Amino acid sequence: MTEGRHIVLVGMMGVGKSSVGRTLASRLDRRLYDSDEMIEQSTGRTVREIWETDGEPLFRTLETEALRCALAESEPAVIAGAGGIVLSPENRRRLATDDACVVWLLAGIDVLLERIHNGMHRPLLDDDPEGALRSMFEQREHLYREVADAIVSVDRRSVNDVVQAVLRCAN
Ligand code: S3P
Repeated sequence: MTEGRHIVLVGMMGVGKSSVGRTLASRLDRRLYDSDEMIEQSTGRTVREIWETDGEPLFRTLETEALRCALAESEPAVIAGAGGIVLSPENRRRLATDDACVVWLLAGIDVLLERIHNGMHRPLLDDDPEGALRSMFEQREHLYREVADAIVSVDRRSVNDVVQAVLRCAN
């Protein structure tokens, strides 16, 4: 049962973690923690600024701290983890905790490409979005699988349908 457990959404950029997270949080009357937003709030800088000024390693450190803080909340919440959250072994260890039900939102690359409109916080997609998404998926697929308690396909489904599916497998 998810009662008392955080629901953590993971998956590739553009899969809809933030929009599904928002609807899910309001449906469950829970707080939403979005790791990118937490980083922007705590630093007062955008993801892109951090990335371009300090580089990916600092961004990943901030991401680990954001996940740690969100999981440490005593009230069960909805946590939207950014696409790269599974890269760190420390994050994967934390996600394995019994206090979190981790749902991997899965979509085909064509669907991700259609959904990626605002690239502002996604410097990894600046040059060749399709190639970058394909190689990222190859590198990360097994990591998402490793942390997932459930997998929900979002291909051609509305946000509400996906939320229903997440609720079904999180219960
Ligand atoms: C990233 C995903 C982005 C953002 C950054 C890096 C990644 O978040 O954290 O651009 O490595 O997959 P979203 O998954 O919310 O787009």
